[in-house]
Amino acid sequence: MSTQTRFTPLARLLHWSMAALIVAMLFIGAGMIAGAPEHYAALVRVHKSIGILILVLAAVRLIYRLLHPAPPLPADLPALQKFAAHASHWLLYALMLALPIVGWAMLSAEGYPILIYGGLHLPPLMPADAMTYAHLRSAHALLAYLLFFTVLAHLGAALFHGLIRGDGVLSAMASLRRR
Ligand code: HEM
Ligand code: HEM
Repeated sequence: MSTQTRFTPLARLLHWSMAALIVAMLFIGAGMIAGAPEHYAALVRVHKSIGILILVLAAVRLIYRLLHPAPPLPADLPALQKFAAHASHWLLYALMLALPIVGWAMLSAEGYPILIYGGLHLPPLMPADAMTYAHLRSAHALLAYLLFFTVLAHLGAALFHGLIRGDGVLSAMASLRRR
């Protein structure tokens, strides 16, 4: 049985840096849609670049996670809560990969060159097609809402563990102590 009680420093670094990037992306996305039109182009530029960075980090993180299992959840945690924790974590991994891929595919279907970071060109994932673009555009917004609500539930669960149960689950990811 594993005696590991904390996520590794690299797992924690990836978790917190990606959490900050993803929360920023949700706000940037909302700002693109609801903000002042004169900021739209600059926001989309930042959104595409951070989105592709998230895709790369999520792939690295998923591989790292498959090689380094998470510390076990408390033995007295009810089975339903254990299931909810595991299911929501894998859903978060899936969304961290799916949202940027759908964003990239959607811009491919739109048919314009996809430029990120100082002029780097992304190859199109599919041929241009207006109908596919419309579907992917809706899917991107829907997945962003799903990510937003899953993150809220995740935050609630983390605070429940940290403030109510006090069972070490929050400090497994959040504590800066060496042991
Ligand atoms: C984790 C990564 C991502 C998150 C959380 C995210 C989130 C969002 C959100 C919340 C919106 C506004 C949705 C709405 O209400 O309609 C949006 C729009 C958009 N996203 Fe993303 N996105 C991500 C990745 C990407 C990537 C990688 C690309 C492209 C390479 C991209 C391209 C776009 C574009 C072009 C729009 C605006 C489309 C329009 O103005 O009609 N996104 N995104
Ligand atoms: C966009 C924001 C976030 C995302 C995408 C995210 C994603 C994830 C994922 C995928 C895991 C599972 C780790 C694994 O098993 O490999 C995880 C674990 C965890 N996260 Fe987050 N997280 C976010 C924000 C937060 C916040 C704001 C908190 C706390 C206030 C938090 C606290 C935790 C804790 C305590 C764990 C460990 C759970 C356990 O041991 O089972 N996360 N997070």
